[in-house]
Amino acid sequence: MKRKEDDRFIQGKGNFIDDVKLPGMLYMDIVRSPYAYAKIKNIDSSEALKIPGVVAVITGKDLKEHNLHWMPTLMSDTQMVLPTDTVMYQAQEVAAVIATSRYIARDGKEAVKVEYEPMKPVMDPKKALDADAPVLRTDKEGKTDNHIWHWEVGDKEATEKVFNKADVTVSQEMYIPRIHVVSIETCGCVANYKKATNHLTMYMTTQAPHAIRTVIALVAGHLGLTEEKIRVISPDIGGGFGGKVPIYPGYVIAIAVSFLTGAPVKWIEDRTENLQADSFGRDYHIKVEMAATKKGKILATRFKVLADHGYTDAAANPSKFPAGMFSIGTGSYDYKTAFMEADAVYTNKPPGGIAYRCSFRVTEAVHAVERITDRLALEIGMDPAQLRFENFIKKDQFPWKSPTGWEYDSGDYQAGLEKAMKAIDYDGLRKEQVEKRNNGELMGIGIATFTEIVGAGPSKDFDILGIKMFDSAEIRVHPTGKAMARFGTKSQGQGHETTYAQIVAEELGIPAEHVQVEEGDTDTAPYGLGTYASRSTPTAGAAAAIASRKLRDKARKIAAYLLEVSEDDLEWEPGKFFVKGAPDKVKTIQEIAFAAYTNHPPGMEAGFEATHYYDPPNLTFPSGAYICVVDIDKETFEVKVRRFVAIDDCGHIINPMIVQGQVHGGLTQGIAPAMYEELIYDDDGNILNGTLMDYLVPTAVESPHWETGHTVTPSPHHPLGAKGVGESPTVGAPPAIANAIVDALAPYGITHLDIPITPQRIFDALKAKGILDTEFAV
Ligand code: CDP
Repeated sequence: MKRKEDDRFIQGKGNFIDDVKLPGMLYMDIVRSPYAYAKIKNIDSSEALKIPGVVAVITGKDLKEHNLHWMPTLMSDTQMVLPTDTVMYQAQEVAAVIATSRYIARDGKEAVKVEYEPMKPVMDPKKALDADAPVLRTDKEGKTDNHIWHWEVGDKEATEKVFNKADVTVSQEMYIPRIHVVSIETCGCVANYKKATNHLTMYMTTQAPHAIRTVIALVAGHLGLTEEKIRVISPDIGGGFGGKVPIYPGYVIAIAVSFLTGAPVKWIEDRTENLQADSFGRDYHIKVEMAATKKGKILATRFKVLADHGYTDAAANPSKFPAGMFSIGTGSYDYKTAFMEADAVYTNKPPGGIAYRCSFRVTEAVHAVERITDRLALEIGMDPAQLRFENFIKKDQFPWKSPTGWEYDSGDYQAGLEKAMKAIDYDGLRKEQVEKRNNGELMGIGIATFTEIVGAGPSKDFDILGIKMFDSAEIRVHPTGKAMARFGTKSQGQGHETTYAQIVAEELGIPAEHVQVEEGDTDTAPYGLGTYASRSTPTAGAAAAIASRKLRDKARKIAAYLLEVSEDDLEWEPGKFFVKGAPDKVKTIQEIAFAAYTNHPPGMEAGFEATHYYDPPNLTFPSGAYICVVDIDKETFEVKVRRFVAIDDCGHIINPMIVQGQVHGGLTQGIAPAMYEELIYDDDGNILNGTLMDYLVPTAVESPHWETGHTVTPSPHHPLGAKGVGESPTVGAPPAIANAIVDALAPYGITHLDIPITPQRIFDALKAKGILDTEFAV
């Protein structure tokens, strides 16, 4: 890439972290632990340092001299940058090798000899609180167990009472396994510290550049690296999905080495490191219960959760909600009583808890409620679609207060499910299923009707490390009527360059191609909390609309002055103001922009710029109705998703093509955990499928043809009526697929299977029921 050092990145032009090449740049590779839990007895870097081109080998002890060996996490926990004595998970960073090329750094890494004294790790979160479990976080003074936090919401006693009296109760234990975001691009950075100016430019693959700048200042402030001396530039990113929100040790080591050597330092993970050391989501053990009447009226739900966060709680979660928005788990149904509790524990796994393409634990919560709803349908012999229709919150009940305290803004769940059922011919499929079952064939139909909760957030409720979760837009219209719009969010492929330009264009009438969108440079963009949890449209998208409207108000004043009429005499049409009843007396937005710099009304501030920091009054509550049809091979137990209809409701749609793209990608990331993906560790803490040879990420080959559609229920409080959409399909697809597979197997007494539902899992479940392949006919 041809560019001068520290040039401003233009987003959407293919400038990725690997393209950053600075003069005199050093390269870093990382020595990682083969053990999940071990004492470090010795690190011998003498052979590595003999390799020409190896500049240094950095250990935790080196960092300790500058008090840089620990760092805060985004959940107010602490994390080792490099260990001084103990490693806590397999693939943990142990030492960093700095060299003049990437290849020499890799040779140097192979030459570093580390002596370990392995210890028995804690791998099962259910045993992490046992009296004989070793206390893992001995760095925390007074810590006597592996408990991280307890969180609860709802009314425990009232829920107990409802459960005690209910006609029917169903209960299910389930595990939502640890999986990986597997973005196409791994994580990486270039830290460029200049001694002369005491200034750090940090190019890094981050979804939240401003928050990261603040955290770097908190970590390195004592070395004089204060926030105004730090510039974070997040270039184009090849997928984030939550995995590029946390701060990983590699970033901090690169900064420390650049600080110590005065040279730019580049660190880019390879695929295996990425898959083994960071960006993990889920790992939730859930017991979910539902109480109902015999006729299928849902009365209450109860959730008990155990969250495995690995050795530190490093995920980004709003401070007040350590289990994120798990409490959306009451679902799309109208009942008054619920109780949820969650406990998080430390284990010897890498830090987990990433909100993988979901609004902080919504995927886990929705899976639980949609599975238990089907479980109830099976128990009382009611069609799962009918059960949902009986219990939906009705269109006229919004705004609706959930038993866990949320106020759902709007929704029309009935319309969504009806549309999905019509599109897939639900009644026809059920008839076909009866015939197939009579012939002993395995066909299943699964439904998920989910409500999401996105757009964190109202700053009264949502902060990360105390930083309020608003977001921002700054629009500068130049004299010639072309605009620059900058945002506190950061696209990782969601197309903000297109949709934000569209919002400004729709609001101001400036053609979208004349609006240059920029994100990801803390020196130029207004402060914001970044892009994850489908929050960009609900927050920065709203900020773009309001900043545009501020400009329109100013434009009206300028137009009135130029046309010599009162403001009330003017009418707006996108792109121009004209005098009511005299459409030829007109000033275009371009003429108005020019006048703002050349001929503005006396007393008015010159220029044509506006900024807005948008603090939403509420979250937005998108919803979806998904229906999946599967056929299961009776000999191999391979599941074929024959059809999948996804009807989404994200309120007003800004760009239908982008939304459809978001839904297609998200559905594929939904079939992945439902049928293929799970990270597996043995009792010694070894990851058993830590390469893409063993960890099956579905491609176009495994993906079915997605049939998508939408209903539109605008958000009443968002300036455009829009709700987020980026994560809905990842949330809705797994329960729809799991429900379909269980539906296919229900005649054989199977009421639940944990995801990923592999052929082996189906085989084992049928075998456990004593079903042989000759006995499929009912
Ligand atoms: O925060 P993130 O960008 O991941 O999620 P989002 O706000 O749901 O937006 C994903 C993409 O879909 C963006 O380009 C949005 O502008 C677009 N979108 C849209 O066109 N209409 C909506 N109602 C919601 C999102």
